[in-house]
Amino acid sequence: MSSFDTAPAKTGDTFVRHDPGYLNMIYGTEDVTPLWVADMDFSVAQPITDELLRLANRAQFSYEFNAKGIFAEISAWYQRRHGLMLEIDKFEQVPGVLTAIAMLIRELTEQGDGVLIQVPAYHQFGKVISSAGRKQVKSPLCYRDGRYEMDFDDLEVKLTAPDVKAMILCNPHNPVGRVWRREELERLAEVANRHGVTIISDEIHADIVYAGHRFTSLMAVNPDNHVSVIGSPAKTFGMHSISNGYVYTQNEGLLKRFKSTADSLYLTHGNAFTTFATIAAYKQGDAWVDALLVYLQGTVQWIEDFLNSELPAITMSPVEGTYQVWLDCSATGLPGDVLKATLGASGFGATPGSWFDDDAAQFIRVNIAAPRTDIESAFRAFKTEIDRATAVGIA
Ligand SMILES: Cc1ncc(COP(=O)(O)O)c(C=O)c1O
Repeated sequence: MSSFDTAPAKTGDTFVRHDPGYLNMIYGTEDVTPLWVADMDFSVAQPITDELLRLANRAQFSYEFNAKGIFAEISAWYQRRHGLMLEIDKFEQVPGVLTAIAMLIRELTEQGDGVLIQVPAYHQFGKVISSAGRKQVKSPLCYRDGRYEMDFDDLEVKLTAPDVKAMILCNPHNPVGRVWRREELERLAEVANRHGVTIISDEIHADIVYAGHRFTSLMAVNPDNHVSVIGSPAKTFGMHSISNGYVYTQNEGLLKRFKSTADSLYLTHGNAFTTFATIAAYKQGDAWVDALLVYLQGTVQWIEDFLNSELPAITMSPVEGTYQVWLDCSATGLPGDVLKATLGASGFGATPGSWFDDDAAQFIRVNIAAPRTDIESAFRAFKTEIDRATAVGIA
């Protein structure tokens, strides 16, 4: 029995993942196992809870900032876990990773310029680009034999356009689960440098990487031209509603401009709960994250075995990182709208692939950061409904 086998009871919580309004809107019912929003259904590590209780028990909330303390712990974490040396004064703190990306887009590009994303892509990237008045320029990843690769020929063409001045890299990639290899990042940085494009590297999933794979930050490849580390403790430690984001770059000019904008907007300090929970997480969270990775890897293995034996028409892209798994359902023959209807009918609350790419309607993304028994029963119900829908299709 693992501590991840039980989810905390939900009593009157207003978590987005379980929100009846959203569930009805997406699935036409609230009777689903919610495996959509990329957050966790686990209790956080004990040191985080202890720290939050310590702060609450003080019952005093004087101004208290400690961004430097956070950066020192993040820096030590990156050195321990990823062999990367990060200097404390090259960080800036922001409310969240999407805030950081929204600010960087405004810093690096003008109204009407293009910002490249590699699709399928985390759906908020499109929104963050469009809502800034910039154009989404999509470079589809190559999908070969169930595996995704960057399409360098396409990147070469699209990054040449003079109005494309920035691209968002997602590493590890949500939703396809790739952890980009050093050679891929080197090649990408080379193309971007040649065309004067700045890479905004969203590395929020950096710590969720499975055996046989290794996370390489863009920082380790091409530190000077790009915004190399944008992260947060949210995904790693399940601190989704109590995390800040951070930006790190060795590009002195860009760092100065970014710091000045963040400072002028008074974005650079979190509240005490966020601050000290983050310090506790990075300082004392190694063992918890190690156990989480083992647990998630076991869940990935269970899904792979289940699909092979019970649902062979559905294939999973190799899960190198993240706790999102990306399933190709096209061999079931079910069109996207029918596939989506099977989610509601079976109570399988996965995210429809069309959220990530117009061409991915026959894919679904499943968030596996939940007790394995929930995942197992959800997959079994999904199989029953897929079998029924395909039988109807054949009849
Ligand atoms: C790739 C990626 N970036 C950013 C975020 C959101 O980060 P934040 O809540 O810090 O804005 C997510 C959440 O799912 C994500 O998957």
